Amino acid sequence: MASVRLHQLSQTFDKQVAIRDISFEIPDGEFWVLVGPSGCGKSTILRSIAGLEPITAGEIFIGDICVNQMPARQRDVAMVFQNYALYPHMSVAKNLAFGLEMRQTPPAEVRDRVSRTAQMLSIGHLLDRLPRQLSGGQQQRVALGRAIIRQPQVFLLDEPLSNLDAQLRSEMRSELKLLHQKVGITTIYVTHDRAEAMTLADRIVVLSQGQIQQIGTPAEVYDQPVNREVATFIGDPPMNLIEASYRNGLIWVGSRYWGCSQALQNQLVSYRNQAFEIGLRAEAIQLTTAEDGVLVARVNLVEPLGRETLLQVSLLTHGSGESVPIDSEPTLNIVITDRRSLQVGEIVGVAFEESSLFIFDRASGSCIHRPSQTPNQTPNQSPNPNSSTVTA
Ligand SMILES: Nc1ncnc2c1ncn2[C@@H]1O[C@H](COP(=O)(O)OP(=O)(O)OP(=O)(O)O)[C@@H](O)[C@H]1O
Ligand SMILES: [Mg+2]
Repeated sequence: MASVRLHQLSQTFDKQVAIRDISFEIPDGEFWVLVGPSGCGKSTILRSIAGLEPITAGEIFIGDICVNQMPARQRDVAMVFQNYALYPHMSVAKNLAFGLEMRQTPPAEVRDRVSRTAQMLSIGHLLDRLPRQLSGGQQQRVALGRAIIRQPQVFLLDEPLSNLDAQLRSEMRSELKLLHQKVGITTIYVTHDRAEAMTLADRIVVLSQGQIQQIGTPAEVYDQPVNREVATFIGDPPMNLIEASYRNGLIWVGSRYWGCSQALQNQLVSYRNQAFEIGLRAEAIQLTTAEDGVLVARVNLVEPLGRETLLQVSLLTHGSGESVPIDSEPTLNIVITDRRSLQVGEIVGVAFEESSLFIFDRASGSCIHRPSQTPNQTPNQSPNPNSSTVTA
C-alpha cells in the first residue's frame, strides 16, 4: 500500500487541454472518489496514474517515488475498467491466476491466493466457468478479484459498476466498501454517480472541465460547496437555485420578498439591485398552505419513493411589484417524509429558514453565503411562526 500524490498534473490531447493543474495527495489506505460530468477528465487522471498515457506536465508520486518515467507494469497499481476486460477463453480461476503466473509466482502460492480471493468475493463456486457463463455482477467480482489478488499498492477503478442494474449496483457498492475495509488498499474510484461518490468516499474530488472544483469529505462537499457547480452536482436531487435580488433589507424573488437578519443584510449590501442566486436543498424546504408560504408554487410531479416523496413544483413568482423580474417559472425539487396527499396542479406554499440558505454570486458562481451550521432541522417541519421570514 502507498500514498498517491499528484503535483500540477496536466494532460493535453491534440492541443486540447483534458486536465489542468491537478494536485492532491491521497494518504496511504484511503478511498478517494473522482466525480464530475462526462468529459471532465476523470479517466485521464486515472490512466495517467496507471501509466497508460504519457503525461504533458506535472509529477506523479506513488509512495515516495516519482513514477513519471516508470512503465505501467512496474508501477504496482491494478486498474479495473468499466467493461471488466476479462479473458474470454479462460476460466474464472485462470483469469484470477493470470497476473500472478506472469510474474512467475510459485504454483502453490497462486492456488492459495486464487482460493482466498475467490472466497473473499464469494465466487468460489464459479472458478471453472468461462466469463460468458457469468452474470454481470459475477463478472464484476472476477474483475475486482483479478485486481486485488496481486495485492497492488494502489487500486484504480474506472466506473466499475456502470454496467450493472440498479439493485446489483447498490449491492456491489456495499461490497466494495466492505472489501476496502478488509484489504485497506489505497483506492481511487471514478464515477459520475453522485450517490456512489457520497457513499464510498473518504474524500471526494469534484472535477469540472479538467480542473478541480473542490476536495472534501462527502459531508463537506454537500454542506459547504465552494460554488454553484459543486452545489448542483453533489446531492440527489441537486440543490435548487432561485434567482433573487436584495434591496432595503429584503430578499426579492419575483414579486415576493422576505426580511433577512442583520448579519445576512451586511453580506448582501454589496449586491444591492444586483441579481444573485439563492440555493436550497430539497430537504430544507417545507410545504405550507399558499397563504403561509414565503413563495408560492404549483405541484408538477409527485414521485412516491416509499420512505419519502419527491415533489417537483414550479414557483409562481411573477408579478408587477417593484421586484427584479426572474426567468420563467423556476422549478424546485422538494423531499417530504410525511404521507400527505398532493395532487398535480395543486397550489402550495414554500417556506424555509434563513439558516438553510446558500447564496451564489450570479456571475462567478462562487458561494458567498452558506448555512453557518449544518441545517439540523427535521425535513418538512412546520415553519417557525417566530422566524424572520415574511410573505409579501
Ligand atoms: N486519447 C485521447 N485523445 C484525444 N482526446 C482525449 C483522449 N482521451 C480523452 N480525451 C479528451 O479529454 C477529455 C477528458 O476525457 P476523459 O475520458 O478523461 O473524461 P471522463 O471524465 O472520464 O468522462 P466520462 O465520464 O465520459 O468517462 C475529453 O474531452 C476527451 O474527449
Ligand atoms: Mg471516463
